[in-house]
Amino acid sequence: MSEARKRVGVLISGRGSNMAALIEAARAADYPAEIALVISNRPDAAGLETAAKQGIATRVVDHKQFESRNDFEAELYEVLARARIDIVCLAGFMRVLTPSFVERWRGRMLNIHPSLLPALKGLNTHARALATGVKMHGCTVHFVVPELDSGPIILQEPVPVLEGDSEEKLAARVLAAEHRIYPAALRLVAEGKAGRG
Ligand code: GRF
Repeated sequence: MSEARKRVGVLISGRGSNMAALIEAARAADYPAEIALVISNRPDAAGLETAAKQGIATRVVDHKQFESRNDFEAELYEVLARARIDIVCLAGFMRVLTPSFVERWRGRMLNIHPSLLPALKGLNTHARALATGVKMHGCTVHFVVPELDSGPIILQEPVPVLEGDSEEKLAARVLAAEHRIYPAALRLVAEGKAGRG
């Protein structure tokens, strides 16, 4: 690739296993993006340590330290801008972002959601998949738009619901698929092959 690798900021709130999958993928010499920064809104997010151990720069922007959502997002934007971030990946980031923040990143902000969107938007998707009796579940990487868990789909992977599945078993099977499609979707976006979002 002749162009410079895109600089990616990953936003997390917890475990950070999808973040780790992105970091791992970005090690490949031919990967079109580098993970330049990991930001957590929670100081205790386990993913911060995982990222630091991999030599990735980390920052905490604790939403509790700000008086308003706008102040929190202004700082978030500053931190991303200062790091010259091109693409933002939400990876288990548990804060809803305002339409104005989202608009500033339109076509440059991705999210991973543990269902085959547009089915099962919101939380507790694995329990709800089991409760509704669907035979096919899965995960989706999509561009972020102001409406939650909506926005143009970049990649999906179906995951079967198996006889005797528990929420944990199903979640683990879906998570393995998440770790495959998130790096693949980021590659498409970084190469300009995923549309404009
Ligand atoms: C994943 O299931 C992701 O789809 C959802 O939150 C979870 C985050 O897990 N948005 P991790 O922090 O990436 O391990």
